[in-house]
Order: sequence, then structure tokens, then C-alpha cells
Amino acid sequence: MRIDVIGGGPAGLYAAILLKKRFPDAAIDVVERNRPHDTFGFGIVLSDETLGNLERADAPSRREIEANFAYWGDIHVQYKGHVLKSSGHGFSGIGRLKLLQILQARAAELGIPVRYQTEDAGLSAHRGADLVIASDGINSAVREGHRALFRPGVDPRTNRFVWLGANMNLPGFYYSFREDPRGGIWNMHAYQYRPGESTIVIETTNEAFLASGLGVEDEAATAAWVEQLFADDLKGARVLTNRSFWRQFPTITCETWHATIEGLPVVLLGDAAHTAHFTIGSGTKLAMEDAIALDDAIAERPDDLAAALALYEQSRRNEVGRIQHSANVSLVWFENVRRFWGMDPVQFNVSLLTRSKQITYDNLKLRDAGLVREATRWWNRQQADALGIAAAADAPWLDAPPMFAPLRLRDMPVQNRVVVSPMAQYCAVDGVPNDWHLVHYGTRALGGAGLVFVEMTCVSPQARITPGCTGLWNDEQAAAFARIVDFAHARSGARLCMQLGHAGRKGSTQVGWGQMDWPLDESHGARNWPLVSPSPIPYRDGVNQMPREMTRADMDAVTAQFVHSARLADRAGFDMLELHMAHGYLLASFLSPVTNRRTDAYGGSLANRMRWPMEVFEAVRAVWPSRRPMSVRISATDWIPGGLTGADSVEIARALKAAGCDLMDVSSGQTDPVSKPVYGRMYQAVFAEQIRLEAGMATMAVGAVTTADQVNTLLISGRADLVALARPHLADPYFTLRAAADADYRGVGWPVQYHTGASQLHTTMQRAKEDAARRTVR
Ligand SMILES: Cc1cc2nc3c(=O)[nH]c(=O)nc-3n(C[C@H](O)[C@H](O)[C@H](O)COP(=O)(O)OP(=O)(O)OC[C@H]3O[C@@H](n4cnc5c(N)ncnc54)[C@H](O)[C@@H]3O)c2cc1C
Ligand SMILES: Cc1cc2nc3c(=O)[nH]c(=O)nc-3n(C[C@H](O)[C@H](O)[C@H](O)COP(=O)(O)O)c2cc1C
Repeated sequence: MRIDVIGGGPAGLYAAILLKKRFPDAAIDVVERNRPHDTFGFGIVLSDETLGNLERADAPSRREIEANFAYWGDIHVQYKGHVLKSSGHGFSGIGRLKLLQILQARAAELGIPVRYQTEDAGLSAHRGADLVIASDGINSAVREGHRALFRPGVDPRTNRFVWLGANMNLPGFYYSFREDPRGGIWNMHAYQYRPGESTIVIETTNEAFLASGLGVEDEAATAAWVEQLFADDLKGARVLTNRSFWRQFPTITCETWHATIEGLPVVLLGDAAHTAHFTIGSGTKLAMEDAIALDDAIAERPDDLAAALALYEQSRRNEVGRIQHSANVSLVWFENVRRFWGMDPVQFNVSLLTRSKQITYDNLKLRDAGLVREATRWWNRQQADALGIAAAADAPWLDAPPMFAPLRLRDMPVQNRVVVSPMAQYCAVDGVPNDWHLVHYGTRALGGAGLVFVEMTCVSPQARITPGCTGLWNDEQAAAFARIVDFAHARSGARLCMQLGHAGRKGSTQVGWGQMDWPLDESHGARNWPLVSPSPIPYRDGVNQMPREMTRADMDAVTAQFVHSARLADRAGFDMLELHMAHGYLLASFLSPVTNRRTDAYGGSLANRMRWPMEVFEAVRAVWPSRRPMSVRISATDWIPGGLTGADSVEIARALKAAGCDLMDVSSGQTDPVSKPVYGRMYQAVFAEQIRLEAGMATMAVGAVTTADQVNTLLISGRADLVALARPHLADPYFTLRAAADADYRGVGWPVQYHTGASQLHTTMQRAKEDAARRTVR
């Protein structure tokens, strides 16, 4: 067997080592353009988990790697002159050159020829090989030469970074953020990888980099700049360069990592196949784990290389995707440091540590309980100050998890930060809520959440999404809602919020458990009703109805309907009112350039597109009691190129805030079937955070939040003021009560009828924890 390896970085060398061990008779050859001691950059980090994988794959090289490790457990963050320390993190660092030397020596020991200073001559030079491993790094010529086969996608990030070194000791991982008087915030990511040797990555926005006047390849000027700006961090140490050029990180993905090219089986490994931003330090790990997976796959299918390559790819996809996702979330934090610049140091630190969502409130507690205790006390004190509550230094509630902190919006007190998100029930008749709604909302109110939203309730029969939607255009509906509100007020501490909306072009469709978003099936006697929208564009071509473009008279009529419904909501006793400007319904359709193609004063610029939705808000605000709060739900991004963005949403939020909106309820997408959301845990919270910090107003995060831990994480890190959960509340109306029992927090009111259940749940949960702890100790 002949295996040709292009590129002698961690991926190529490690693959050659593992395959040579597996097939000692194979002819394995590595071609590397650099000399053995050439390398860019300084140190890299590897986690304990990666070390375990390396042990299994090749114990001798793993031993050598470990012998050269620098370990540290602390992270220090310098921000505005404060240095905050957290512990318990557990990293290992090694010089990149040392790692390569270990792998080079191991390859030599196994008799693998590495042809240094040799530029690969292209795939034609590998004719006759049974397998070509393209581990030729981030700029892979193999990948780029065969784009049609590998179908790479490149997301070029805007920030500039440079990899430097310094002869200095650091007590652990060290971040420093410095604002340059000439403009921009500059981030230092640094750690020691050997006594007296540290690696330093400096990062800033492209604008700040351009304003600095530094040349991309001017290493001397770069070193001088960094020495001056980070003088207090470097404490006299000189900055070292090593091909230290200012680059922009490309996040690379490929639709496939293997192909047969002119009869040659070729497989991409490491950075050639995928990259992960340096702020989560995983590129080398991924590269070496790719090599392990390739070796495992070939061992499993030794007689069928095509099947082995497919298996390699299949076994790596999820893990690589997961790490790339975390890396993307992490890099966005660093690209937007300006957003966090107003934060208190305590919160800045927590925000940084929890940025990629891998570290959460509970996870951080395991690492550094003292830090979480201090941060929680700080956060609760801030909330108390906002409410004008005096807190004695030893007040026990200062230690309560953030989700249980009260909030006030205008005159409405909310007993805690958990919200039941609006969820259509599709079972009203003529828009009138019935016993289902009483039981459904009543149960959720009893479940302990501070605020319960009712579903999107439509301002006219034509405004409904489906025939089963609730409505609020007549007295019968208002009376039926009043029964629900009265029950919740009489029997629970929950506040109730009415969500008013108009379906626009997404109206006249089947209920949620039918063919959702599809028109009513007239063959079964249903009758579709005519639709309106800012522009005559159907939701789906050839499927949904063509909506009529709204005239100014239509706008006036619908505004009046919203106002009428708001008055009825007031009469029904709702504590709060939300206008639905999200998910592609009528008001959202005006906001989004995807659905609004008007050429009059209501289309075109964002200011024009906002004009009528703002008119509706102002008209409703004028009749909704001033002591009661209002919120607006928006789709903060359409997830469509050219569609609404987070930055647009900040503008919308600013205008709404000025008009008397108290809370932005930040959802996303559903504007149009072409949208491509990037899902993940708490995936929309980044927009709630952006709006909260940039528009300076309260936000509610929602979407794929499933645990109390996540709620606490979002609150304490300053991403939101309230957290809404939809589907989790369908499965468990008592989410909040259960979380309180779990946290041993007694401040959430159980219905008196359920008190014995409360104490039993608490005991059961404590026992389960004790059992788990005993199992861990053993
Ligand atoms: C600033 C920064 C910090 C980082 N920090 C970390 C970290 O802390 N932890 C971590 O795990 N990762 C980190 N990484 C990522 C890590 O360096 C890479 O992911 C890793 O090196 C990928 O290994 P590789 O073998 O796939 O590619 P490379 O290491 O790039 O190796 C590819 C090799 O192929 C050779 N080559 C390319 N083309 C040819 C050709 N035509 N002919 C011959 N030879 C060729 C190159 O010379 C190179 O030696 C960091 C990256 C950056 C930019
Ligand atoms: C059954 C169901 C009905 C929904 N109805 C509404 C609604 O009436 N109004 C609204 O703004 N969002 C509605 N949503 C969206 C949710 O409020 C929420 O934003 C979304 O489900 C994401 O949150 P989750 O991950 O906690 O479920 C609905 C969601 C579900 C699952």
C-alpha cells in the first residue's frame, strides 16, 4: 500500500504515524514545503479529553507531548484596569514547534520519510498512490484546486489578528482588553507554554487595524505597537515575532472531505477540511483527531478504501460541526467587544467566560464556586437597586439563582424571570377562548413562571392565522379572556400578557397539527379568506394565496383594529400587552425588505419600512394604560442574505423604546421559507444581548432554552432581563417550581393546595443529588 501525505503539520504527521503503525509495510511519504524547524506561531492548547484520545492512538508521542506541557487552571481577565481571576479551568499548552518536533521524531523513528523544503507538485505527481492525504492546511491547494468536488464554503471574518510571542511567565490564561486612544479595542489572548515563554494573539476590528496605520507584514511596527499598548500586561517583556502577519480568520467548511480525482482517492484532513476560530483553541485537536478517525476507519474497512473514507467523514461530521459552531459563537463575542464595554467588570468576566455557551452558570460553579457566588450577589444587588430594595450585606436572597429575582416593568411587578412564551393553541371557535384555554393558561400560571403570555390573538377575523386562532375584536372574546385572567390573578402570582397580531400573508392556513402554513383545504368545506400584505408576494409561490398590497386606507383600518383590541385587552384585565412584529406576520412583513418591496413612504429604507408598524405601536400605546408595560416581539434577523439583521433590529428597538416600549421580545426568522436559521442552544439570545446592550433596553430571550441553568446563564451574563420558554412549558407547566425545588429556593409561591407536593419534590430532588454525589465519590 502506498500513502502519500501532502503537508507535514499536526494532521499530516500524525496520520502518517498512525497508519505506519497500522500497516508497517506500507510506503508512507510526507511532503512538506517548510524546513523541520520552521513554524508559524508559538504555542497551542490541548484539553484533557484530547490527551485521552492521543493516549489511545499512540502512547509514545502522547508521553512526549505531556512531558512538554505547561498546565494551568486559572483565567485572568484584565478589563479597564481590573484583573479578575477564575479557577478550575484545566488547560495544557505546548509550543507548536515542540509539538511538531515530537511528531517529526516519532515519524523518523517509524521510518517515515518526510521530504522537507519540497513544494507538492500537484495530484498528478501522486499517480500510483492508493491514498492521498491532503493535510496541506488552511490554504489547501488540493481543496482549492478541486472546489467543484469538495464544495468549500468560506466565511471570511472581519477582525484582524496576529500571532506573537514574549519571553515572560503568565499565571494562567490571560486576556487583556485595551482601548487605544486612536480608536478601537484591542484584545490580547495569552498563555505560557513553557517556563519563560508565552504565546500572545492580538486581535482587533479591521477598522481599528486600518486606523492604526500598521502594515500587514510590518512585524517590527506590530511588536512596537503591542509593547506600547499592552505595556502594563507585558511588564517590560519584549514582543517576539515569527512570520507574525495580520490575518483575517476564514471559517472553512466543505460539503465533502473525500473524493476520487483522476482515479486517486483523496481525503482532506485538519485545517484543509475545516477550521475552528483560535478563540476556542481547537484546530490542532481537530487535526489530530481527524487523523485518529481516519486510521480507525481504515482499520475497520481495510479492503474497501471508499467505504473507509466515507466512514471517516461520517464519524467526524458531528464533532467537527459542534466545535465549529462553538467557535463561531465565540468569535462573534470577540468581534463585538465594544458591545460589552459598558459592563461592570464582574459581568464582563462572566460574559467572556460563558461566551460560547459551553461554560454555563452551573458549569462555572463547578470550576469556581466563589466566582459564581460573588457574581450572583453582585447581580442580585443590581436588580435590588433597580427596584429600590435595600439589601443587607447578609440578605440570603442575594445568593438566590438569578432566575428568581423579581423585576418591575412600569407598575407591573414580575415575581421572577421565567416567562411562558406565547403559543398558539389553535382551538378557539370564532376567536373565543374556551375551557381548554382556561385550563392551559391556568395551569401555566400555577406553575410558578413570573409572566405568562397568551398566544397570538388576532385583531379581526381576517387577521387570523388559522380558524382556530383566538381573537379580540368583540365583547364575547374579551369576557372569555377576562375569565382566564381573573383565575390567574386570584390563584397565582403570575402576570398575564396579551399578544396581539395580524397574520398578513401567512393567514388563512391550517392549524398547527394540520399542514402548517398551507392554505385551508377547501375540498373539506373550509373557506379561505383574502389576505393583505405590504407587497403582493405569496408566502410560497404556487401554494399560498397571493396577498393584496395594502393601501393607506387598509393601514388605517388595521391600526383601528389594533387599537380596539388593545382596549378590549385592557377591559379583560391583562397586565401587559405585546404587539407581534415577528415571524413574517403583517407588521413583520413591513419591517423586512424580503417581504416589503413597496416604493412609497412605507417601503425602501428601514425608516420607511418601520413607519406604519411604529404608527400602530404609537396608536396602541396611546390607549393602553400608561402604568402598564408594552413589549414588541420581533424577528431580529430574517436569516436571509439581504434580509433584516441584528443591526437593523437595534434601530427598530431604539425607535420603539423612544415611543414607550418597555421590552423587546427577541425571536428570529420565519419570515420566508428560504430562511436558513443557525440553530443551537439559546441560539437567538445573541440578538437579545445585542439589542439590550446596544439599544439600552430590557430584552426577553427565547428559543431553545431548556434548563434553569441556561436561564441563569442568560441573565447573569447580561444577555436578557427575562427568559421565555415555549415548548419546555408544554411538557412541564411547573418548570419554575421544579427549578426552585432543585435549587432549594423557597421564595416561589406554590399553590397552597399543592404544598405537600412541594416538600415531597424537594426531598426527592435532594436525595437524588446525594445519591449522585455518593456514586461520584465511589
Ligand atoms: C492565532 C492562532 C492560534 C491558534 N491556537 C490554537 C490552539 O491554541 N490550539 C489548537 O489546537 N489550535 C490552534 N490553532 C490552530 C492550529 O494552528 C491549526 O488548526 C493546526 O495547525 C492545523 O493543523 P494542520 O496539520 O491541519 O495544518 P497546518 O498546521 O497548517 O499544517 C499544514 C502543513 O502543510 C504544509 N503545506 C501546505 N501546502 C503545502 C504544499 N503545497 N506543499 C508542501 N507542504 C505544504 C504547510 O507548510 C504546513 O506545514 C491556532 C491557529 C491560529 C491561527
Ligand atoms: C405550539 C407553538 C405555538 C406557538 N405560537 C406562537 C404564538 O402564538 N406567538 C408567538 O409569538 N410565537 C409562537 N410560538 C413560538 C414560541 O413562542 C417560541 O418563540 C418558540 O417556540 C421558540 O421557543 P422554544 O424553543 O422554547 O420552544 C409558538 C411555538 C409553538 C411551539
